[in-house]
Amino acid sequence: MSDTVENSHREAQARTVAIIMDGNGRWASGKGLPLEAGHREGTRALRRTVEAAIDEGVRALVVYAFSTENWTRPADEVSTLMVILDETIAGELPDLARQGVRTRFLGRRDRVPPHTRESMDALELSTAERATLDLWIAFDYGGRAEIVDAARSCVADGLAPADVDEAAIAARLNAPELPEIDLLIRTSGEFRISNFMLWETAYAEFVFTETLWPDFDADDLRAALAAFSSRDRRFGGR
Ligand code: IPE
Ligand code: IPE
Ligand code: MG
Repeated sequence: MSDTVENSHREAQARTVAIIMDGNGRWASGKGLPLEAGHREGTRALRRTVEAAIDEGVRALVVYAFSTENWTRPADEVSTLMVILDETIAGELPDLARQGVRTRFLGRRDRVPPHTRESMDALELSTAERATLDLWIAFDYGGRAEIVDAARSCVADGLAPADVDEAAIAARLNAPELPEIDLLIRTSGEFRISNFMLWETAYAEFVFTETLWPDFDADDLRAALAAFSSRDRRFGGR
């Protein structure tokens, strides 16, 4: 095979990037601060990262903000996270919308407080025409639940077994219009996927960094994008 064909496996730029934003708790405890301070600083890191992603030409960013398993955390932490979500929707996300960010949410919406659900819906509607970057916030999201829901929807739609193929499942995921993930970043030195984007990361490149999420910045994003650019993606081929 010629060099040209081999080099064609290299992609210059990750267009769809997912981030498991982990390490807020350790950031706070390392500084002797309350846990809440870590989660709040995490919101600032999100804003910084979205702005950096725009500068770097990333087209879509999918961030893991709250998993289906995070409900098992102490009630006071869960309610703090709900309040921070409300504050982020009211403060940071409208600011980002002014920079062209369209925000949508992935995951269940029936277990967050009703006023939060309303503001999620309203933000999606009000940013629907923004086109600089698509931001997907996974909140009360679980990758297995997403696939189970898609399977249920195949049954509800009366599909014959032979018609339940990859396209049928993909069309019934939380956000069928979300492209496959090119690059998945996980912060805080953990090497696991924790039920995030199980279907969508089938051929993603993974980058793990020791940086705790509240410390993540444009340099960390650029380093991850550079690592992606140097990878040889083969998709099972030659
Ligand atoms: C990620 O930070 C935020 C959420 C999971 C909501 P953590 O709160 O998991 O931080 P660590 O892993 O305890 O440091
Ligand atoms: C994954 O982080 C979920 C989010 C970042 C929202 P966790 O901290 O919940 O994951 P585990 O428990 O370390 O696997
Ligand atoms: Mg964690």
